[in-house]
Amino acid sequence: MRAIVQTAYGTPTEVLSLADLPVPTVADGDVLIRVRATSVNTPDWAVVSGTPTLMRLGFGWSKPRATVRGTDVAGFVEAVGAGVTEFAVGDAVFGSSLDSVAGTFAELAVVPQGRLLRKPEALSFEEAASMVMSGLTAVRAIRDVAQVRPGMKVLINGASGGVGLLAVQLAVSLGAEVTGVCSGRNAELVLAQGATQVIDYTREDFTESEQRWDVILDNVINHPLRRVMKVLSPTGVVLPNSIGQTTGRLGRVLAGIPRMALAGLMSLFSRRIKLPSITVTTETLQALLDLVEDGAMKVVIDRTYPLDQAPQAVAHMLSHRAAGKVVIAVA
Ligand SMILES: NC(=O)c1ccc[n+]([C@@H]2O[C@H](COP(=O)([O-])OP(=O)(O)OC[C@H]3O[C@@H](n4cnc5c(N)ncnc54)[C@H](OP(=O)(O)O)[C@@H]3O)[C@@H](O)[C@H]2O)c1
Repeated sequence: MRAIVQTAYGTPTEVLSLADLPVPTVADGDVLIRVRATSVNTPDWAVVSGTPTLMRLGFGWSKPRATVRGTDVAGFVEAVGAGVTEFAVGDAVFGSSLDSVAGTFAELAVVPQGRLLRKPEALSFEEAASMVMSGLTAVRAIRDVAQVRPGMKVLINGASGGVGLLAVQLAVSLGAEVTGVCSGRNAELVLAQGATQVIDYTREDFTESEQRWDVILDNVINHPLRRVMKVLSPTGVVLPNSIGQTTGRLGRVLAGIPRMALAGLMSLFSRRIKLPSITVTTETLQALLDLVEDGAMKVVIDRTYPLDQAPQAVAHMLSHRAAGKVVIAVA
């Protein structure tokens, strides 16, 4: 099968290339998927670039242990392992290979059956694949952790990214009044998702605002936590949700890890700081799909690349300029 392989850390166009790999082995409980679409998420560019460097402690120090990137997936079932009862050859499915060895930037990928769901016909493969990690994050943050309710004031920092656009839509559908923080060029896009206000971060610092918010989902963590907490309402909560950007010398080594670590530590003592980490199960995928089918969220696709241009797709995400999801169409 054709797959995009990574042999070293570096710029996506230097270290990612198309190669022929053996068909992955299907173990008990696994499903082999003929991939039709996958999408690019933060962990993909982080492992390709090997930044923040500190994360190499987990991925492999001199080169990544796993050679194929990608977790989100949508496609057709090609084969099933022993014990797979929920899916049969030919089913259209979507899900995530999170924590599996085999990545999805490939023609075939292996995913445990517990991380898959049948794809409804109304949803394209591109939409299904691109909503998995970003959508699960938005649902976890906005609905489950922040418990957004009608009338709440919600601020989304990084409102124009794959996670941000879905979070804006979900908070609006739950009855919140939403402020999106993005650059001027993405203001119309964020307002079109139902935000009532946009703060252009190139002109105004939301942490200096006189306004107060009940929920702040921080997908950028470009401000110290204490400054973000200053603009919370008396019962407000902040959800730091980013490994940050890897710009500058120190940024390439640490990025937002110190800020996330501090937030994690403080969350043990303060009910006003909450970290929204996701889990992928058939239940969380079903909850996401229900919201999409109810019209609460619709993924916004920025660009779609063919498999052989996966390096360009990852480079686009790494630029931190993607407005919505970056998709790789495989078929
Ligand atoms: N908790 C989890 O399990 C989980 C899962 C997935 C993702 N995440 C986190 O979610 C974060 C967001 O990911 P994403 O996929 O949405 O993509 P992203 O690549 O972080 O978002 C790109 C967007 O961010 C905007 N942006 C860049 N700098 C900004 C700034 N200083 N202030 C406000 N907006 C800025 C860009 O708009 P402009 O071009 O207009 O600047 C662009 O539209 C990531 O940091 C990731 O670590 C967490």
